[in-house]
Amino acid sequence: MRLLSVRLIVSLILGIALVSSGFSYYEVLGEKRALRSDVERRDEILGESLVGNVERSWNAGSDKELKRLVQRFGNREHLLGVAIYDRQGALVAVTPELEKTLTVSPPPVTQAITLGHEESSFVRLGTLPVHILALPIRRQDEVLGGLAVVHDVSYIRAQILLVWRQTFFRVLAQVFLIVLITLLIVRWSITGPIARAALWMRALRTGKISFRQEVPDHLDMFRPLAREVATMAESLSHARNAAENEARLREAGESMWTADRLSVQLRTRLDDSHLFVVSNREPYMHQRNGKVLDVVVPPSGLVTALEPVLNACDGTWIAHGSGNGDAEVVDAHDRLRVPPEDPRYSLRRVWLTKEEEEGYYYGFANEGLWPLCHIAHTRPLFRAADWQYYQDVNRKFTAAVLEEIENVAKPVVLVQDYHFALLPRLIKEKRPDARVAIFWHIPWPNPEAFGICPWQRQLVDGLLGADLIGFHIQSHCNNFLQTVDRVVESRVDWEHFSVLRQDHRTMVRPFPISVAFTGDDAAENNNHGFNYLDRSALMRGLGVEATFMGIGVDRVDYTKGILERFLAIERFLEKYPSYQGKFTFVQIGAPSRTHIKRYHDLLAEVEAEAERINWRFQGGKWKPIVFLKRQHSHQEIEPYYRAADLCLVTSLHDGMNLVAKEFLAARQDEQGVLILSQFTGAARELRDALLVNPYDIDQTAEAIRAALEMEPEDKQLRVQRMRKVIKEHNIYRWAGNLITELCEVRLDAPEDMQEKSRARVSVA
Ligand code: F6P
Repeated sequence: MRLLSVRLIVSLILGIALVSSGFSYYEVLGEKRALRSDVERRDEILGESLVGNVERSWNAGSDKELKRLVQRFGNREHLLGVAIYDRQGALVAVTPELEKTLTVSPPPVTQAITLGHEESSFVRLGTLPVHILALPIRRQDEVLGGLAVVHDVSYIRAQILLVWRQTFFRVLAQVFLIVLITLLIVRWSITGPIARAALWMRALRTGKISFRQEVPDHLDMFRPLAREVATMAESLSHARNAAENEARLREAGESMWTADRLSVQLRTRLDDSHLFVVSNREPYMHQRNGKVLDVVVPPSGLVTALEPVLNACDGTWIAHGSGNGDAEVVDAHDRLRVPPEDPRYSLRRVWLTKEEEEGYYYGFANEGLWPLCHIAHTRPLFRAADWQYYQDVNRKFTAAVLEEIENVAKPVVLVQDYHFALLPRLIKEKRPDARVAIFWHIPWPNPEAFGICPWQRQLVDGLLGADLIGFHIQSHCNNFLQTVDRVVESRVDWEHFSVLRQDHRTMVRPFPISVAFTGDDAAENNNHGFNYLDRSALMRGLGVEATFMGIGVDRVDYTKGILERFLAIERFLEKYPSYQGKFTFVQIGAPSRTHIKRYHDLLAEVEAEAERINWRFQGGKWKPIVFLKRQHSHQEIEPYYRAADLCLVTSLHDGMNLVAKEFLAARQDEQGVLILSQFTGAARELRDALLVNPYDIDQTAEAIRAALEMEPEDKQLRVQRMRKVIKEHNIYRWAGNLITELCEVRLDAPEDMQEKSRARVSVA
């Protein structure tokens, strides 16, 4: 640094001195030129006024008059004098001071006489620099001799020397000032911020601050660099944690699942192959808002769960490109690398028309299958036109999958959810060598309930094209197998939980989905420096004062039991009035599928219900319910999870529900109470939650009281046990088990496959 400063100073001095001297040189040259032309001008005026008198005296033959004339010009400022010569160059008259030096005519005079016109030049008389102006003396056209006006110009040199001296001091002052100012600017705007940036990076590297924290304002000029460094620090921290974890696991002989273990597992299992995930919802949506292109992570349990899997194995995720700016960022094959900040896998976007989205997504999937599978008392709507779009879009996605796996040997395809029941068979028909699994993220109802779907046979048949079908829990598997038994011709093997249909075997298994939790607090320490005691600050931010806080995080969906939850809070405050003014429930509600009337109305109902209850109880700075009606990022939700005394998950029916698991993962302090609906898949694993029937308002109200009054030791024991469950059954295990199971499936023999394909083509 010191060497750098010396170099900088020396270069500055040399540079400024060089530039300044260059300018000064031209300035001096100009000054010299001006002084010289001043002398020339003055001599010219004098010469021209004198030559007339000289000519008159010469013509009158008056030598006396000529001598008198020349004597008048001695001793004037810098004027040495004048001299008159005859035609042969002999001196006729001269100012006495010049008598000795100008005995013979100087060259300008000789030239003026010979050429007959004025001559002027700077010459030396001995050592003295002079200017001589020579004029011809005439009688009519005849040149009789020459007149010389002689000026001492030694003062010009003195003057120039003076200018050089002044210039030297000016350059010196300039160099000093410019170097000083430059050094101050460099210190304030470059070395200072660099030093601060270095301190910040060191804090990042040593884990004193989180890489998820925003880059501080004083590092604004380094923002792009700082972001890259933060990403690098994150990767480093992950690598370090993974290595530590690995060592710890080896030491403890545990069989815990981590991102790294999954990645190794996938590499071994997939061999040279590649993992392809297909879902309707994409993990990143690009939203164009005027000039800004925002990246949005949709509020989806499926996205929360699958993103870490794709990050771990660099696969390809094929999904509907639903953002209005999505098309702007894809390549010619509709692909891009994500996550945008730290690309690790490929996202292939599939485009749908408005009509397709309306019929397939809003219509058949979400007005038909969604209420059909969630027994939540909203009537499913089945329209033939929607069914047609559902089939078309399943075919469209099949085409995209086939394109992606075209040159991949033995690809592994994980289809997601109820949007793509037909995909497994469609893919297998074209690529029998592909291993295809479908994971159904929502419940599978009993056969009677499923039976109201007019196209149940086609749906079940489509699913049975898969080699493996996954549900969250065993009872969904059982319901599915019973449905298969009733709907299509097949052999259900209850011993091995598989179905044999048209010589193709499909395994049916429970894989409880989860979150990316490894229990490694250092790795998961993304609390933005949030302190558990910051609850009141969090509440103040919402404009509320309360001693106790509850949290709920949901898409605003009628299956989530949000209204029932609000009624339970009302009942709790009614029954236990001492909590009025003290307990506030924060409901984060992401508007969802609002294009569907039922969802649109529900959003208004939830808002109105919160308002009604608030109106009934609120007072001063307290109110019972804060409804935050917008999608929040995981980072925004995290502080609420950490600050809450309890988390309410009251789904009327839910495949799994990851909010319950996210809440526990966030509780490094091993505090907080989870109140969980017994109708969620999560309730099978999280037995230490306070399990409730969300339809039973009184029971939920009691659970709220029990949670708020639970002893800290009891809370700790429960949270500890549940964190252990989700640590051991995390998303890496889910993916590892699912893919291992899929890779172990014995594919039909190649000749059989060709035979089957031929048979299908001839039937078609
Ligand atoms: O549970 C089914 C599911 O696909 C979840 O993965 C997710 O939480 C939710 O539905 C998202 O719904 P959508 O993609 O329609 O917004």
